Amino acid sequence: MRIGIASDHAGYEMKRYLIAYLKKEGYEVIDFGPDVLKKVDYPDYGAKASAELSSGTIDRAILICGTGIGMSIVANRFPGVRAALCYDPFLAEIARLHNDANALALGGRIVANELACEIVRIFLETKFGGGRHLRRIKKIEKICSRTEK
Ligand code: RB5
Repeated sequence: MRIGIASDHAGYEMKRYLIAYLKKEGYEVIDFGPDVLKKVDYPDYGAKASAELSSGTIDRAILICGTGIGMSIVANRFPGVRAALCYDPFLAEIARLHNDANALALGGRIVANELACEIVRIFLETKFGGGRHLRRIKKIEKICSRTEK
């Protein structure tokens, strides 16, 4: 599974922590920046990873800003991206089971790094439930295809 990861300055330290964790777990990780800790704007980096997720060159995106809110807003502008802001493992599980979320937004100023690892683990290991949830996702896609015209 190819995982893209991006942050702003407020998510930078968590990003580095998660990259080390993901590599240790054997995932292929693509870092969309920033490369150094400096003040940046989250849409610039969130958009890079989200565009790759949208086009299918990565399978999942992990996007980290101070709260995760800005990153989730950016990511959900991209076709086919379903970003979920998760502050605990239960939300991550439901985001996969019910929403087939393919992007995880995290708040670097909200959750501790160890908890973020557990959220990421659950997010990556939980399969989509399908069935009635698929019907609902198809309805979202239909809404998007109307608004994109
Ligand atoms: C940066 O100060 C902060 O606004 C950003 O990291 C994020 O929380 C936005 O949603």
